[in-house]
Amino acid sequence: MLLATKSLSFIYGVSLVVFAAIFATTTSLQSRRHAALFVFGDSLYDPGNNNFINTSITYKANYPPYGETFFRFPTGRFSDGRLISDFIAKYAHLPYWEPYLAPGQHEFINGANFASGGACAIADNNPNVLSLEAQLSNFKEVVSLLKQQLGDAEAGQILTNAVYLSSIGGVDYHIFSDQYPNATESEMENYVQVVIGNITNVIKEIYALGGRKFAFQNVGPLGCSPVAKQLNNLTKTECWKGTLSLARQHNRALVTAAKELEIQLPAFNFIIFDYFTTLMNLDCNPFKYGFKEADIACCGSGIYHASDCGIGDYELCKNPNDTS
Ligand SMILES: *[C@@H]1O[C@H](CO)[C@@H](O)[C@H](O)[C@H]1NC(C)=O
Ligand SMILES: *[C@@H]1O[C@H](CO)[C@@H](O)[C@H](O)[C@H]1NC(C)=O
Ligand SMILES: *[C@@H]1O[C@H](CO)[C@@H](O)[C@H](O)[C@H]1NC(C)=O
Ligand SMILES: *[C@@H]1O[C@H](CO)[C@@H](O)[C@H](O)[C@H]1NC(C)=O
Repeated sequence: MLLATKSLSFIYGVSLVVFAAIFATTTSLQSRRHAALFVFGDSLYDPGNNNFINTSITYKANYPPYGETFFRFPTGRFSDGRLISDFIAKYAHLPYWEPYLAPGQHEFINGANFASGGACAIADNNPNVLSLEAQLSNFKEVVSLLKQQLGDAEAGQILTNAVYLSSIGGVDYHIFSDQYPNATESEMENYVQVVIGNITNVIKEIYALGGRKFAFQNVGPLGCSPVAKQLNNLTKTECWKGTLSLARQHNRALVTAAKELEIQLPAFNFIIFDYFTTLMNLDCNPFKYGFKEADIACCGSGIYHASDCGIGDYELCKNPNDTS
């Protein structure tokens, strides 16, 4: 139920071209090697890391019908198809993601994907999965390994040329909204600052390890997701004000924080993908983007199919491509 993102995942396959631009510049500067891509985030980016942690079925997507459209088996992605992080890898001429936690030997020269469905920026919010902080620890392991394998200079070059992509915060706001349905404006503002503060700390640590190029996906219109509508008994066209307002505040604060980092940290570069506006446009004009239904998830239980995709008596739409 906390994975609001889960229910929207069938309509994500749009407007990913936005990110191609980051790599266009990166690759043209580097004639011989790709820039590496390191990915941090929640279910929007998780290629199956949660398959390899001890957590409940709620936080896993390694069973049907997940994966049916593209990979043809349930990889652990919270989608029938590819994730935004996969399309970005594709446009960057990198392979589709293997989970960082998948057993076996990995080459980290092209980067790694640490994302974990249900992940929070505030570690204590969801101890069942890999918080942003835990993902940072895994990144530090990769840094050590690269230094061992390639030496400090070459590893440093890779880390500096790399792009650091993140999508985090949505789950923090769903949890807050569940716990404090009657929070005041100032309590909401404080909470947003704590979430942003924790994200900023992680970004500063990555910068200290050599990271210079950051790509942030902001949070979506959380209050308009099928899960928000279902939990709060809303009509199809209504949105839940609390989480919608938190999302807007977060996205404003993210821009401010990134601009401050740009001032504080030499050579810090960033780009923000406005996922909020992209998804809002899709939600308001589904037909324009080839969808027949944007308010009801393709897979799940409840009137908006907002929970338990693949579990018990769930419903599945006939055509995931337009969610009808
Ligand atoms: C997995 O988590 C459950 C519940 O927290 C615990 O009882 C169990 O011992 C854990 N299993 C392993 C292998 O760590
Ligand atoms: C929030 O406010 C509503 C309406 O005033 C009230 O019914 C509800 O019990 C409150 N919830 C909590 C958790 O305080
Ligand atoms: C990060 O989150 C913790 C837990 O809520 C909070 O105590 C701390 O102040 C936050 N850090 C920053 C820099 O805001
Ligand atoms: C939504 O409706 C259900 C069934 O009528 C009820 O049990 C539940 O308390 C309602 N939830 C809210 C948030 O109003």
